[in-house]
Amino acid sequence: MTETETPALAALAAAWARFDRIAEQASSASIGGLFAAEPDRLERLRVDAAGLHLDLSKQSLTAEGLGAALALARAAGMEAARGRLFEGFAVNSSEDRAVLHPALRAPNGAGYAAKGEPVSTEVEVTRARMKVLAGAIRSGEVRGATGQRFRAIVHIGIGGSDLGPRLVWDALRPLDGPIELRFAANVDGAEMLGALHGLEPDTTLVVIVSKTFTTLETLANAQLARAWLVQSLGEAGARAHLAAVSAAPGKTGLFGIAPDRVFAFADWVGGRFSIWSAVGLSCAIALGFETFQAFLDGAAAMDDHFTTVPLERNAPVLMALAEVWNRNGLARPVRAVVPYARRLALLPAFLQQLEMESNGKRVTREGGGVPRATAATVFGDAGTNGQHAFFQLLHQGTDVIPVDLVLVAEGDGPPDMHAKLLANGIAQSEALMIGRPEAEVREELEAGGMDPAEIDALAPQRTFPGDRPTTTIVLPRVDAASLGALLALYEHKVFVEGVLWGINSFDQWGVELGKTLATRVLGELEGGETGMHDPSTAALIARFRG
Ligand code: F6P
Repeated sequence: MTETETPALAALAAAWARFDRIAEQASSASIGGLFAAEPDRLERLRVDAAGLHLDLSKQSLTAEGLGAALALARAAGMEAARGRLFEGFAVNSSEDRAVLHPALRAPNGAGYAAKGEPVSTEVEVTRARMKVLAGAIRSGEVRGATGQRFRAIVHIGIGGSDLGPRLVWDALRPLDGPIELRFAANVDGAEMLGALHGLEPDTTLVVIVSKTFTTLETLANAQLARAWLVQSLGEAGARAHLAAVSAAPGKTGLFGIAPDRVFAFADWVGGRFSIWSAVGLSCAIALGFETFQAFLDGAAAMDDHFTTVPLERNAPVLMALAEVWNRNGLARPVRAVVPYARRLALLPAFLQQLEMESNGKRVTREGGGVPRATAATVFGDAGTNGQHAFFQLLHQGTDVIPVDLVLVAEGDGPPDMHAKLLANGIAQSEALMIGRPEAEVREELEAGGMDPAEIDALAPQRTFPGDRPTTTIVLPRVDAASLGALLALYEHKVFVEGVLWGINSFDQWGVELGKTLATRVLGELEGGETGMHDPSTAALIARFRG
């Protein structure tokens, strides 16, 4: 122990050192071999949580490695850190904010407090207002300026103010609902024009979602949508077609949104953790509040699991430990997410923000350098589509890329079709693990009578190394409760990883520089004074300058 180290820090450093050593020793272990060596492996690494089933047994985490990872979690003070999150301490230390997304999905009467200030009543009031508006719009009690029922919602927002609602809608949307929901996020005219195309202002509600109400993309889209409304309904009429979700009521007022159509976005709700708040308003209206409530209940059930189940059976904790094993123990920088459900096709995009904006950090909460790798790069697509795109690399590429496979027990459409989808997901988890040895390939080619020289060239190309780890998550079906539980599972996994890495998972300073420079560049593109730039940037600005 050095002079500046506390006993707790020394214990954490020792736990990391042990974890690293065990991971290195286990780095060549085959996953198939682990099943043989650890007879209780399957039972130990399978857990049920909030209606979901999680199977981590095809990860390369050994029994000893899991022990070391659990010891690491304990040395990092995981249980105390979890307590601080749920008790509303300012765990977002760089912004001095509590992080209380679980309060948003807790049943009425929960009694959460952010930095000592009670928040649950405020949550319940907002939730009740959402329910009233959703019900009134769906029943036709609340109508547009010309007396017509709302038939469409255009949801405007970006990042956390877009990805969650977009995923929820895509996952749960009925084929023929009374209200269509469209989204516009990017500051690209094509996006907003596409969102408005074919809609009538008389029957369209525009919901603008921005915590800060300063986000360039959202404001540009909101102006365009507002002008579209005003053009046919007039200023006064347009007000009946606008709603906002924001932490900046002064700014929504200046934008012309009636105070009774503004829904609060508390400062203790991080953008990428906000789908449970009024950020879900568009979904609550378009899907019906009962569905939205079931989504909240599913997440609350995962919160219960996360806060009550011991670490060794705790689904988010186990997922985080497997991730740290891959990322730190075995230096694997990328993870794929493949939901075998078209309805969950947007899950990888949602997780990109949740995981990479939360844990893509290189500095600790105290400002020191993180001595190890943090968030993996996340990518993915729905299965089986991904199989026909990037699975070649997963099976035979030079990097080992762990994969999260999400399977759904009960699918849409004909059962035989769903069986095909499931079979593919299950088969991929097996194929990635067992691979196909060269000897077996050679045997097959020899049996086919191939020339030995040709076999020498071909057999290695047709060999699969295997030992590519997967986690399988099973949902009973893609319904609101399962989706809520799934997203909360990933949220808590992200939190656990952040605690292990000693970083603040709840700020995002890394997005600021680009925003600042974009404002400066925009001024120059619009003919303002040119600033100092490197030759490449200066040439690009000159090329587009008006
Ligand atoms: O990309 C940065 C970010 O601040 C995200 O964290 C956030 O979800 C998004 O922008 C949108 O911010 P706002 O809700 O304030 O418009």
